[in-house]
Amino acid sequence: MDESSVKKAAEIILSAKSCIAFTGAGVSVESGIPPFRGENSLWNRYDPKVLDLNFFKASPEVSWPVIKEIFYDFFGLAKPNKAHKVLARMEQAGMLKCVVTQNIDNLHQDAGSKEVYEFHGNLQRIICTRCDYRVMAPDADFSKLPLMCPKCGGLLKPDFVFFGEQIPVEAYEKSVVAARQADVCLIVGSTGEVMPAAIIPSEAKRNKAVVIEINPDESHFTGNITDIHLKGKAGEVFSELEKFLF
Ligand code: APR
Repeated sequence: MDESSVKKAAEIILSAKSCIAFTGAGVSVESGIPPFRGENSLWNRYDPKVLDLNFFKASPEVSWPVIKEIFYDFFGLAKPNKAHKVLARMEQAGMLKCVVTQNIDNLHQDAGSKEVYEFHGNLQRIICTRCDYRVMAPDADFSKLPLMCPKCGGLLKPDFVFFGEQIPVEAYEKSVVAARQADVCLIVGSTGEVMPAAIIPSEAKRNKAVVIEINPDESHFTGNITDIHLKGKAGEVFSELEKFLF
């Protein structure tokens, strides 16, 4: 990552009419949350079938202990890193319209971002699969798994998108509208492997947005829609960017 590219990216952001950020698991790696793919990734350690909706409903006694271990014992301890904090600062300064995130860890909101479109939901909310009961994770009783609804006895489920489950309509629509209105799109820490999330930066590009990618590696976006690739870790890149933005 050379300083001239960072400086150029900052100038583009500062002159943007509508800059958005699209984030993936990579933005949370420096907060201690492993990515889903790549070395030391979650899917190398756990079987993704625990997050398949049909499997979860058929075998909640298998899925829930793994879900608790990954998303509540482990993810739950994570704190926002420099990248989350600079993105929140950019929003407060009027430089960033919104964050479209694939992440369910709530770290953008914890860092102070307000306009966050949760493309894959959020682990903080736990909902009943049968009635309108919902509980925030810190108030849920994890002593007995699988979590069952105290109101109707139905199975409780984290309010994030399982494989085979629909994307939340409101988050999808707001993300597409934001992408179509963007003239700059930051992509932070995503392989671009998962659809339909990966269409968001492409929608921005289709509308002539400048695409700035922040990732230590190449992704499906690099060489396709990316105009400037700041090759580095999100926390480190945003520390450099911040010097030119503020
Ligand atoms: N800073 C920035 N990017 C990083 C860092 C870092 N410190 N460390 C890793 N990365 C990059 C990797 O190079 C990779 O491109 O983050 C990306 C992580 O890829 P994935 O784990 O596939 O994350 P993501 O693209 O968000 O996955 C999409 O897959 O399983 C589903 O729902 C899950 O939201 C997730 C979706």
